Amino acid sequence: MTTTISYFESSDNANAVKPSVAIVGAGVIGLGIGWRLAAAGCRVDVFDKGEAGTGASHAAAGMLAAGVEVEPGEEGQLPLNRHSQELWPGFAAELRAASGIDVELRTEGTLVVALNADDVARLRFNFDLQKSLGLDHAWLSGAEVKRREPYLHTGTVAAIHSPGDHQVDNRKVAAALKAAFGRAGGILHENTPIAEILTEGGRATGVLPEGGEPHRADVTVLAAGAWSRAIPGLPDGARPPVRPVKGQMAALRMDPHEPLLRHVVWTPGVYLVPRLDGRLVIGATVEERGFDTTLTAGGVMSLIEGAWRALPGIEELPIDELWVGFRPGSRDDAPILGPSALDGLVLATGHHRNGILLTPITANAVSDLILTGRIADVIRPFGIDRFAAKAAPSRPDSMADPRADPRREQT
Ligand code: FAD
Ligand code: GLY
Repeated sequence: MTTTISYFESSDNANAVKPSVAIVGAGVIGLGIGWRLAAAGCRVDVFDKGEAGTGASHAAAGMLAAGVEVEPGEEGQLPLNRHSQELWPGFAAELRAASGIDVELRTEGTLVVALNADDVARLRFNFDLQKSLGLDHAWLSGAEVKRREPYLHTGTVAAIHSPGDHQVDNRKVAAALKAAFGRAGGILHENTPIAEILTEGGRATGVLPEGGEPHRADVTVLAAGAWSRAIPGLPDGARPPVRPVKGQMAALRMDPHEPLLRHVVWTPGVYLVPRLDGRLVIGATVEERGFDTTLTAGGVMSLIEGAWRALPGIEELPIDELWVGFRPGSRDDAPILGPSALDGLVLATGHHRNGILLTPITANAVSDLILTGRIADVIRPFGIDRFAAKAAPSRPDSMADPRADPRREQT
């Protein structure tokens, strides 16, 4: 069902005029694609209903966790996740040069800690899975873990160390992409909700800003995160099945000169992400509650209690911030990347828990698709056509029908 975008047919001609592009959504995904295209000489207009970078890209923890986030049934996403993880050091350096903003890529890696015998059994299961997938994770004894992170609970029994799962400050990534996009000549329309994606004769022809004039473009990119499914104007087959997956988060303030933690740490139920400025980000709940922005006592308590069990020293730390964000979860929780059933419309959404990790590969592969018509092999399994062809033999194992999971809402 995947269609060619007819504009691409002339793109092998080096003298071809560069396409004009309208992008809906100024999160890390829309801005990343926009930056690449503007730098390549396209006219690019990015529209956001609010300020750029204030959606999930602001709410995230910034972990680049291709290794420790892999779960049974999601192995099919690993090549994409690892590919993007490998791009991150170069991407961060390029972004710094283009924007003047350091996104604070920290390279200590991640520890997944076990605090009791039950945790050890679960950890051992995950470790065996990760090793079978070729990940270079190491098993650490309690004493070894405490040597690396002395403030962890004295009863810490063991840990997996993932040396490649790093972190960036996602808020700085969004700010850097916004600056780089602007410096490359991109045009950003903030506080400009898109009321409709325009279509004519079976192809997308641009966007209609709320209360404004139609904005025509050769290619339209839908990168509106958790809101992507709700933008009017699209036929059913082109509407990405994306839903909001609520996450409550907390941040405490450590002394940056004597931080309680240096690695990203995962412990049953929560993760802890120490920033260079002393912020300790604690996440996250995973809730199917639509766009409910409520911070709940139960949600916040589970974060603080889970963090305290692993790192008792947090008890005295001031709370810096509490917030809620919405992961763009697709029907199978994998991203939706590439052409759609509507000529001229490209999808870049559904990044769920890994949109910061997947920013470099999405920016590169989607901009390349728009410039050349080529679909990179690494994103090929993630087209929207996989939902139409549920029984097709080419579907990756990771795309098992998640409707068997009663916790999920239908999308
Ligand atoms: P967004 O950043 O949400 O951007 C979409 C934009 O579209 C928004 O700015 C919105 O205003 C705009 N928009 C919506 N509707 C319209 C409209 N009609 N017109 C114009 N604009 C519109 N990922 C990781 O890799 N690592 C992590 O550690 C991590 N932690 C997370 C923790 C939490 C609590 C959450 C919520 C997410 C986390 N993620 C993480 C996931 C990651 O944040 C997302 O996958 C990623 O930010 C998606 O980026 P995006 O640009 O698609 O979406
Ligand atoms: N990737 C972390 C989260 O989504 O909470």
